[in-house]
Amino acid sequence: MRNRRSVRKYKKQLIPVKEVLQVLEAGRFAPSGANQQPWAYILVTDNELKQEIRKEAEIVEKDFHCKAPKTLKKWLEKQGITHQKEFLTEASALIVVAGYIKAPYWLESTWISIAYVLLQAESQGFGTLTYTPSDTRFLNKLLKISKDYQPVVIVPIGYPAEKLSPETRPRKPLETIVHINRYGSRLFETSV
Ligand SMILES: Cc1cc2nc3c(=O)[nH]c(=O)nc-3n(C[C@H](O)[C@H](O)[C@H](O)COP(=O)(O)O)c2cc1C
Repeated sequence: MRNRRSVRKYKKQLIPVKEVLQVLEAGRFAPSGANQQPWAYILVTDNELKQEIRKEAEIVEKDFHCKAPKTLKKWLEKQGITHQKEFLTEASALIVVAGYIKAPYWLESTWISIAYVLLQAESQGFGTLTYTPSDTRFLNKLLKISKDYQPVVIVPIGYPAEKLSPETRPRKPLETIVHINRYGSRLFETSV
């Protein structure tokens, strides 16, 4: 949890599918609303398909970057995030996670399972990113995903080609996010 960071640059080196399946195995154990387990993982390893996904994603991204509010544009620039998504073709595989929209709490449950996958990948030494195109309908088309499932994220997985220290993208201190009994009553004002 402490060491995981979003990786946007990947080595070409492939991860054996067996090891990616071990990562996905973690997702199965996530809690879900009414235990509906509304997630589906579409594992993309085919290079041509990865290229098609990148092409479509970059079309969506161009539009998103154009329309982004000023503050977001600045943050994206500072992070070096452009409409170009090299990681979609560079990473060993792409994990498209889709949620079954007819299940209760499908979105919340699907995201918890994504978090399990991210942490398992980290523990196996792989880099990942939660890439969320603003419109994911192109994935339904390209990957033949039923309309009852909504793709929510593309998680590239691979060996990191950038070194990110735990200090990169720091976290808020605990005392600024914890409120005791009532919002605004801070931890450091109370003896727990
Ligand atoms: C719901 C969600 C959506 C995200 N979408 C994107 C995205 O579309 N593109 C991207 O480059 N990073 C995306 N991120 C990654 C965040 O920018 C990143 O997690 C955050 O800046 C903290 O950095 P870290 O993951 O390295 O700790 C997303 C993260 C989350 C949780």
